[in-house]
Amino acid sequence: MAAPAYPLGMTRQLLLGQILRFSGDPFAAPWQEVTHHERRGAVLIEDGRIADVGAADALRAAYPEAEVTDYGDGLMMAGFVDAHMHYPQTGIIASWGKRLIDWLNTYTFPEEMRFGDPAYAEAAAERTLDLALAHGTTTLASFCTIHPESVDAWFAAAEARGMRVVGGKTCMDRNAPEGLRDTARTAHDQSAALIARWHGQGRAVYAITPRFSPTSTRAQLEALGALWADHPTCLMQTHLSEQHDEVAWVHELFPEARDYLDTYEAAGLLGPRGLYGHAIHLTARERARLAEIGAALVHCPTSNTFIGSGLFDMAGLKTAGVGVGLATDTGGGSSFSMLRTMAAAYEVAHLRGVVLHPAQLLWLATEGSARALHLGGTVGHLGPGAEADLAVLDLASTRAIAQRAERAEDIWEAVFPTIMMGDDRAIRAVRVAGRDAVRPDR
Ligand code: GUN
Ligand code: ZN
Repeated sequence: MAAPAYPLGMTRQLLLGQILRFSGDPFAAPWQEVTHHERRGAVLIEDGRIADVGAADALRAAYPEAEVTDYGDGLMMAGFVDAHMHYPQTGIIASWGKRLIDWLNTYTFPEEMRFGDPAYAEAAAERTLDLALAHGTTTLASFCTIHPESVDAWFAAAEARGMRVVGGKTCMDRNAPEGLRDTARTAHDQSAALIARWHGQGRAVYAITPRFSPTSTRAQLEALGALWADHPTCLMQTHLSEQHDEVAWVHELFPEARDYLDTYEAAGLLGPRGLYGHAIHLTARERARLAEIGAALVHCPTSNTFIGSGLFDMAGLKTAGVGVGLATDTGGGSSFSMLRTMAAAYEVAHLRGVVLHPAQLLWLATEGSARALHLGGTVGHLGPGAEADLAVLDLASTRAIAQRAERAEDIWEAVFPTIMMGDDRAIRAVRVAGRDAVRPDR
């Protein structure tokens, strides 16, 4: 990545509090071996990056000149990484009563139509990022709208906050209303211009973004596949097999395709840097192919229950070696909080007969999502060399949570009530590239 364009604090800062961090994937190894908790720990930040992590006493002695911030009992973690969301849908979150295709037509498309207005897009991008920070989320991968202005607004708002975000122009050339359709050519050319403007600028990462196969012709998918081949460091984000009606529609629209994934694969849109949101109703071939390619699926549990999509097979897919990130999918998702999202992931897994450990949930919301975005070790990671994006959790943020956490005998029992019942009140502080993030809500 290019050197950050935003100003970095030059002083050494030492943050004190509890620490929870990961050295490996708790789905692949026993969680005891890859999780590390320090009751009185410290994180040293230098030039916007984490320089050292360890016991508070040891780091205080090693860096006596560092400026100290003491969070007391606060639990310092990597900031949350939301691997799939739609910032243009912030204004229509929690819209009632529809399933996917009707929800898109009734609520989403009319709202997305408004993002050709740069002022409207700017206000929505700023509001979304401020909400995300208030919920402890420091990196987000967002779909924008068809309008290049919506992409400029997203990256500009992130740059102003020093945040590492992913984004891309959402391309659609059919099955969308007039005013929300581009063409194969304009989707390619406008995306190419946005890649030149934003990809690798400061902390920005561009994702080539066909919305999903029903709203793209084969020609458009192929144009975007060719663009990805020309820009292989870009990510590619889309949707896959979210609802049964949608899968059936894809079969009608692409009768030649073996399955839904094949509509992307045939167009050059399947690769290790590909991100496929939802991926609930997969065939055996699709699962095997995703594992073979090393692509990432993004689980959006509050969305899957809110719009009635189904139950993601976390255990089966992780065991098969498929990469999985976690995401809010706002506004199809019903919460900006990755805590609430972890709770929903826990509940969805339970309904499939699998109990996820809090270590696995927290790993998914940080390291798992970062790996999905090919940003592993850069964000979502509390360790030397990572960018210093942190969330500090208050594990007793409400009376209900506090009275349960009080009985906790270890860190997992202490943190689980916050995962299940917490929201933005549980976020005590947020650091972005080492700096205190502005909390407009406080
Ligand atoms: N599939 C295609 N577009 C969307 C969207 O905006 N939200 C969700 N949840 N699914 C989609
Ligand atoms: Zn989505």
